[in-house]
Amino acid sequence: MAAIDDDERTRFDEFSNLARARRTSMIVDQEREVPLDLIAELCGLATWAPSHKKTWPWRFAVFTGDGRARLGNTMADEMERIDYGDEIRRAKTRTKYLRTPATLVVGCAPHENEMLHDENRDTVAAGIQNLLLGATALGLASFWSTPAITQPPAVLDLCGFDPDDRLVGMIYLGWAVQECPAPDRPQLPITHITS
Ligand SMILES: Cc1cc2nc3c(=O)[nH]c(=O)nc-3n(C[C@H](O)[C@H](O)[C@H](O)COP(=O)(O)O)c2cc1C
Repeated sequence: MAAIDDDERTRFDEFSNLARARRTSMIVDQEREVPLDLIAELCGLATWAPSHKKTWPWRFAVFTGDGRARLGNTMADEMERIDYGDEIRRAKTRTKYLRTPATLVVGCAPHENEMLHDENRDTVAAGIQNLLLGATALGLASFWSTPAITQPPAVLDLCGFDPDDRLVGMIYLGWAVQECPAPDRPQLPITHITS
């Protein structure tokens, strides 16, 4: 008997195709807005990631319209304040969040226990992957990037996050207008021990 039946195989293949179809891309339709309720649904998907001790550490803030420039300016001002990066990099930061119709900032709560503090970030990263897969299923292009500084007080405040939260991902979102080639994956590094 096969290890899995036809329905299970079909379901796995569909999921596998979705996971493989997700690409890091910001080649999007600049004119087509991403509805806030869809972004909220994607954030909801993120919360179905596993969370050790049920700490539910994710934080979300959505920037659209002029809010994207405000996010960039706030980030660049923070970089300037702590003398991070050069003038060219800071100037780029001021406009970078305008590259897609929506930018979703995903943050992470701290934890007093060192291991749970690390695990909180793992949970948020797992949540982001859920979100990216959901975006792919909708036809949205997505691009996950890490901010230059992960605890800029003014950005955390703008996002409505707590001062000791940290930023995990700046997620660019927009309607995909082009398929992107997938970078090859290296051979699977699986160790198999049977006795
Ligand atoms: C935490 C994280 C940060 C990333 N930051 C960047 C980035 O700053 N610039 C970039 O071009 N890609 C960034 N990426 C995307 C990777 O470059 C991308 O996943 C990789 O090239 C594989 O392509 P794929 O996502 O289309 O499979 C990031 C991915 C992760 C998980």
